[in-house]
Amino acid sequence: MLDEILRRAEQGGFLAHRDLVRLLTVDDREFESVREAAYRVKLREIGPLVSLRGLIEIGNVCRKNCFYCGIRSGNREVRRYELTEDQIVAAARIAVDYDYGSLVLQGGERSDAPFVELIERAVRRIKALPGKPLGITLSLGEQSFETYRRWREAGAHRYLLRIEASSRELYAKLHPADHSYDDRVAALHMLRDAGYQVGTGVMSGLPWQTVDDLAGDIEFFRELDVDMIGMGPYIVHHATPLGREFPDFGRDPAKQLGIGLRMIAATRLAMPTVNIASTTALQTLSADGRERGLLTGANVIMPNIGVLEHRKDYLLYENKPGTDENADEARRKLEKAIGAIGETIRYGEWGDSHHFAERTKKGVK
Ligand code: 5AD
Ligand code: SF4
Repeated sequence: MLDEILRRAEQGGFLAHRDLVRLLTVDDREFESVREAAYRVKLREIGPLVSLRGLIEIGNVCRKNCFYCGIRSGNREVRRYELTEDQIVAAARIAVDYDYGSLVLQGGERSDAPFVELIERAVRRIKALPGKPLGITLSLGEQSFETYRRWREAGAHRYLLRIEASSRELYAKLHPADHSYDDRVAALHMLRDAGYQVGTGVMSGLPWQTVDDLAGDIEFFRELDVDMIGMGPYIVHHATPLGREFPDFGRDPAKQLGIGLRMIAATRLAMPTVNIASTTALQTLSADGRERGLLTGANVIMPNIGVLEHRKDYLLYENKPGTDENADEARRKLEKAIGAIGETIRYGEWGDSHHFAERTKKGVK
């Protein structure tokens, strides 16, 4: 039955909920054939190619208070910082110099007018940097339609907003009561209407999360018809409500990595042409986690090009790697690691997903 599901998926057939559940519950031996099938689909649709986005963590001030996150507003242990406009633009120059082709501005959620303006100005200045224009992705949380539109007009063209957990019940357990699931879904629709290529994603291996939830997450991505997906395993942070309630949850890195990789493989099989990121959380669990993500169907990596002195203040979870590694070291290591698995970096390209190209060809907004 597993073989039949994999054959059908490779031929572009539809994966129903129960098929996704089966793919997500394979044992390690079976997983090897799932991984191979997902990787074949990636090679066929995308090639042995990796797109990079230089990641700039622009600030850790956040108005939200998610129960799992190390930089939640309620965590008094965090030293808060915000990069200035000049610092953001200077970091963006690294992406130009390294020919990364595109970058992501990520940060805690803020919606005050000075912040909205800061981003708008920084995006305009980055777009005007000498050299090949960079593609700009934003990952700055829930904002008004007006703000999304302003940032889009300034030149950002992709936006990542993880739904975190597509099950309404699970979402409610992971967030304070005033964090609205419906508002988050509405924000994803607004982003599409504001003209962005939209990405979403979830954490896997969370307390209370079932395999039905995870299969439902992939169905959510598919129904929303997103262009890109960034997801990663949950990793405990001690100074959070979830970390305090379940201090030992997810402490087995091999298990968390296994769930994360199963999600990547099943997502690639369900959505052959989307961009899928191999995220830092995978690398936290295993030194070669990001490469394994690529070999399981992911095609995007986000090397950190932000300000080194603030890296340790952007700890969403414990043991986050790369906090003492400068952009140049990170680039050299990454190049070597990607070469070693027989893949090639697509330098100098925005790396929009093929899914987006197909969607627009069909005239779907
Ligand atoms: N473990 C893994 N991922 C986390 N994030 C936040 N906290 C954690 C954690 N403890 C993720 C969220 C958020 C992204 C920036 O980081 O999914 O969207
Ligand atoms: Fe803020 Fe994002 Fe962390 Fe939630 S997950 S507290 S929105 S940075």
